[in-house]
Amino acid sequence: MKVQIDPERCQGHGRCYDLSPDLFTEDDEGYGRVAGDGLVPEGGERAARVAASNCPEKAIVLVEE
Ligand code: F3S
Repeated sequence: MKVQIDPERCQGHGRCYDLSPDLFTEDDEGYGRVAGDGLVPEGGERAARVAASNCPEKAIVLVEE
């Protein structure tokens, strides 16, 4: 699984990097960014889904591989 953030949708609510800091980080203005290459490590799927379901803008995309 990979995570992506749609920059057109992200409004900087910050729930992604608060809830799942291993997968997401923030830019200088508080908008969410994918940490690293966005590849979800073994066991990290739940954290990815939690972040995605808590983003009010539905900006997080989960890509099943
Ligand atoms: Fe943006 Fe959603 Fe995270 S609005 S900062 S992707 S919780």
